[in-house]
Amino acid sequence: MEKFNPNILVEPDGNFTPSVREWSLEKYRLVGSYCDIFTSGMKSRWNQLVYLDLFAGAGYATIQETGKTYFSSALIAMSIPTPFTKYILCESDPDRFKALEKRVKTNFSHLDVTLFYGDSNIMIEQVFKAIPPYKKGNTMLPFCFVDPYSLNLNFRTIETLGGKILMDFLILQALHMDGNRNLLKYLKDENEKIALYLGDENWREDFNHGNKEYSVNLVKFLADKYVMRMKSLGYIPEKNMHQIRSSDKNLPLYYLAFYSKHPRGIDFYKRIEKYSNQQFKLDI
Ligand SMILES: C[S@@+](CC[C@H](N)C(=O)[O-])C[C@H]1O[C@@H](n2cnc3c(N)ncnc32)[C@H](O)[C@@H]1O
Repeated sequence: MEKFNPNILVEPDGNFTPSVREWSLEKYRLVGSYCDIFTSGMKSRWNQLVYLDLFAGAGYATIQETGKTYFSSALIAMSIPTPFTKYILCESDPDRFKALEKRVKTNFSHLDVTLFYGDSNIMIEQVFKAIPPYKKGNTMLPFCFVDPYSLNLNFRTIETLGGKILMDFLILQALHMDGNRNLLKYLKDENEKIALYLGDENWREDFNHGNKEYSVNLVKFLADKYVMRMKSLGYIPEKNMHQIRSSDKNLPLYYLAFYSKHPRGIDFYKRIEKYSNQQFKLDI
């Protein structure tokens, strides 16, 4: 069987479509390949497989450099050969939400989809409640993609989902784009951004008095600290971070970080990351 290609070209449909940079295709490849290996590998072991997308977008995105339009995360996850049994999507921008809703109705009405309009950090309890019930004999395994523009992701949001159930996460961590660029602002005592991101009000103590490297390297600090925070929820304390760099200046932009409580999840991730890197080299 031919391998699933997550970069799915489409014709513009007249609905709102954000413009994104070309490295988004690498992100789409990673999330799409993970969804594919997850459902094909787990369908015989679990009764229900659930996809959550907390920063879901409009469903389509146009690449600024080429003008070509592709499915974005949520619709890629709906296009895999073995679909999830349930999709839960959250989007806070009205134009993107309306476009997503329309596209889901038009192209994927056969799937079980629940859409939330609003801020996922605020609506997370409702999102959690939308996860279908499960029990012995009707098991359920979820995967959650978290794709914010910035560090605007509260650890409490992740904790609400991953603290209670076995859930794999792929989280975009804007450590360079947001973390490093705004370091001076975030260091100020009155600024709560990183306390919310890490779910730790006392982060400045570790940052200033911890590992010497940290005081000059906020990116490393945040990455290490996040792994420890995930460990406190039962996640395997391993850094599985795929770096995305800008294609023009080759600058580091963000990481796609994977977290699982189970070695099989980590194994799946490593396999698709290796494949995604090979594909990327072939494409450029
Ligand atoms: C980087 S885009 C990702 C879109 C999509 N995942 C993709 O594959 O292209 C982030 C999206 O999250 C939305 N967003 C921003 N803050 C949000 C929040 N707090 N809750 C839900 N959606 C949010 C934005 O409107 C935007 O569509």
